[in-house]
Amino acid sequence: FMLKEIYEQPQAIIETLRGRISGDFNLIRLRGLNENLNFLKTVKKIIIIACGTSWHAGLVGEYLIEGISRIPVEVEYASEFLYRDPLISTSDMIIAISQSGETADTLSALKLAKQRGAFVYGICNVVGSSIARCAGVGTYTHAGPEIGVASTKSFTSQVTVLILISLFLAKLKKKITTAQFTSITKELFLISEKMKKTLLSVDNEIQQLSKLYEKAKNFLYLGRGISFPVALEGALKLKEISYIHAEGYPAAEMKHGPIALIDKEMPVIVIATKKGHYEKIVSNIQEIKSRKGKIISIITQGDEIVKELSDCYIEIPE
Ligand code: F6R
Repeated sequence: FMLKEIYEQPQAIIETLRGRISGDFNLIRLRGLNENLNFLKTVKKIIIIACGTSWHAGLVGEYLIEGISRIPVEVEYASEFLYRDPLISTSDMIIAISQSGETADTLSALKLAKQRGAFVYGICNVVGSSIARCAGVGTYTHAGPEIGVASTKSFTSQVTVLILISLFLAKLKKKITTAQFTSITKELFLISEKMKKTLLSVDNEIQQLSKLYEKAKNFLYLGRGISFPVALEGALKLKEISYIHAEGYPAAEMKHGPIALIDKEMPVIVIATKKGHYEKIVSNIQEIKSRKGKIISIITQGDEIVKELSDCYIEIPE
């Protein structure tokens, strides 16, 4: 089921976007946001609460919302948020993210935020679930049923909703030009097809790569910027499914400790696409290489520099 659901991601994205972007690519319709424009114009802070994979999607959301709409965002583990008497005000928006909509910690954290008068918003996959009902307003991801225990296509759909929210808020707060807005909304519709082609083209390489590294005891996943939470998510999937110890790290943090672990036995998966801190990630890769770590990179198609530095690479379209 997990593999099947990985291959369902291109369709999941289409379902998440369906009906939410206008035909001229200039408007986003999200239930609960369109009806609360006055509140959103002055929202002071957004707190995202979630667990596990949904928390990783929330971290991607932090980069997106802060980056595009310039509203401060905090991302909290629902379980920690709940037990530390958090500071919540009526001018805050709380976004609870949950595939199942039934995770007890996320539900309790959402209830607490609601009691304290914040504007609460749910991003759930399962229609009519407890978190969706408790939030009252929100967006369903419509990724389709996720049967595999490890969350995959839900993450992709959650990130898609967070992109829509960040664009919506950026437009409302006039932080984005119409040209930038429409170029992103148009691109969103192209991602599904790119994803479909990529999944097919990398299938073989990934199977070979798994055979090559199946005996490894540890893995490091590195990324910078928005790719950092993606690295965390990759490490979580490996731990959960193959019982191999894996850690996700922001690539630049590696020198503050984990670099000591790198030797020829340590495969390091580096998300090294051209968007975002590319030169810096190249220098992080050189550091790993000087310690003889095995580099498995995820690169932008045609990137000869990182390809040259890597033991294995997976190419993805820009
Ligand atoms: C990881 C995984 C879990 C869930 C977490 C939250 O693959 O499935 O970490 O993401 O238990 O679940 P939801 O999103 O249903 O609240």
